[in-house]
Amino acid sequence: MTASTSHLIAPHGGNLINLIAESERSAELKAQSREWPSWDLTARQLCDLELLLSGGFSPLQGFMTRADYEGVCHNMRLTSGVLWPMPITLDVKEEFAKSLTPGSSKIALRDPEGVMLAVLHVEEVWQPDHKAEADAVFKTTSKLHPGADYVLNKSNPWYVGGRLEGLQMPSHYDFRSLRQTPAEVRSEFSHMGWRRVVAFQTRNPMHRAHVELTFRAAKQVEANLLIQPVVGMTKPGDVDYFTRVRCYQLLLSKFPAGTVKLSLLPLAMRMGGPREAIWHALIRKNHGVTHFIVGRDHAGPGNDETGKPFYGPYEAQELFKKNEAEIGVTMVPFNMMVYLEDQDQYVPDNEVKNGARVLNISGTELRARLNTGRDIPGWFTYPEVVQELRRSFPPRHKQGLTIFFTGLSGSGKSTIANVLMTKFLETGGRPVTILDGDLVRKHLSSELGFSKEHRDINIRRIGYVASEITKNGGIAICAPIAPYDSVRKQVRSMIEPVGGFILVHVATPVETCEERDRKGLYAKARAGIIKEFTGISDPYEEPKDAEVVINTADLSPEEAAQEIILHLEREGFIGVNGNHS
Ligand code: PPS
Repeated sequence: MTASTSHLIAPHGGNLINLIAESERSAELKAQSREWPSWDLTARQLCDLELLLSGGFSPLQGFMTRADYEGVCHNMRLTSGVLWPMPITLDVKEEFAKSLTPGSSKIALRDPEGVMLAVLHVEEVWQPDHKAEADAVFKTTSKLHPGADYVLNKSNPWYVGGRLEGLQMPSHYDFRSLRQTPAEVRSEFSHMGWRRVVAFQTRNPMHRAHVELTFRAAKQVEANLLIQPVVGMTKPGDVDYFTRVRCYQLLLSKFPAGTVKLSLLPLAMRMGGPREAIWHALIRKNHGVTHFIVGRDHAGPGNDETGKPFYGPYEAQELFKKNEAEIGVTMVPFNMMVYLEDQDQYVPDNEVKNGARVLNISGTELRARLNTGRDIPGWFTYPEVVQELRRSFPPRHKQGLTIFFTGLSGSGKSTIANVLMTKFLETGGRPVTILDGDLVRKHLSSELGFSKEHRDINIRRIGYVASEITKNGGIAICAPIAPYDSVRKQVRSMIEPVGGFILVHVATPVETCEERDRKGLYAKARAGIIKEFTGISDPYEEPKDAEVVINTADLSPEEAAQEIILHLEREGFIGVNGNHS
């Protein structure tokens, strides 16, 4: 802490950590690093490293060693006794872990481009009990909890703990003026004379309810407001941060001038509810914040398999309250804000009188309105925000989509796909690409055969290309056999987050395909000249999740294409009068 910021709230543990080495030491480390093993940081590790290096995670000085980790998991405490609710660990592959010597190895930690960002002085290497960790930290081992799912199913099996020395911070080229280290935020607070600051953590676009809530909080505790959205990793399916940050910027004018600041936090959230609320507050304390807003279901991971929320709506507030003295940041608790129609104002739901008419639009409802292009009312959000959201989330008839045919060889996939393509070209608007089985095998997958492994690789490649086309607003028509259910589902999950995915099962029976045998392949398969032939000597798993099922014994290709178009129209992927532009 510099003298100029010493009047601000003290960082957690007393000192603001800065792990970036002086330039001479940096050069020395870089020169020595030639012999060290390298570890390419995952997206989440990169976020953790950034907050470790900058002091956002003060008092941590590196990735946790075993005793700190166990203490944090089971008692929310570091070995020093300091309160810390979230394990910050470096997970690595077994082979890599076994190549390390605790006490002497050093690891060069690198970003995805291979740039060395930091050195980890290896103190301890161990294989953690992931189940015990998930149970202790998140109180669940459900796959539906993003934090528990990461620990149990995505994390590497070994942990490496030790002190860090940083060479440089991870690079960011977006919103540079909004990205500041804790020291920079502190120094700005000091410069502006902000001693009391209330922080608002968010991973969602802000609407009127949030502006009202933050404004009320700031007035209530007579503090300035720091809006600090997470731009590291949030809950899968959230609005991308580029869109969100543009929205936040538009909202700054809704607050009294000189009382609000926007700053981005490169945090990888765990969706850990109560523990996460404490963690968020400690990180903000390190940024010089004195008060922290904890709303309903703070950092909530959603519902478990039985539809029950993982945590109670105000459990985060309860755990925070119990630990408030040690956290050192004052909680500003808030109930959910709802709109009182008669009074045209927002109030916390616990202040609503019986019988009063309240309005609210959930995140799911907002998505549905954006998808269908329906009105988003002014009481809910601001026109500037709606405009920005509509730019990023156009109505379905302007989104990209993939029509994914599956069916036996000779079932009629390619013919229907081609008819469909001409229909789209006739209407115009979105660009159309056809990824036919034979064409893909010629241009993208020429080295592949027909084993399950090769077929799966082929389908994943098609899925990747289709997802890029879809993401950029085009129509991809894919027509491979795609005989395996699990890889079809993988492709669906790649595409649905970026646009429409319609699985069309061309369910022509194998007898009919064989009878037609337009390419003479069935005869060859029967004669054993072609091996692993789908439907004859290789399996075809019928889809149970197809949006459209077509039997070409009953329908001509033109009629089949029409069935698909009607489905697209019903789902909103084609606008009025067939116009899909
Ligand atoms: S897959 O399973 O989706 O990867 O298959 P795909 O890429 O669509 O390739 C199928 C086309 O390759 C020809 N062919 C075979 N099909 C199935 N099994 C075997 N063993 C095989 N060998 C060659 C066949 O012409 C398929 O084209 P379509 O258009 O489906 O008739």
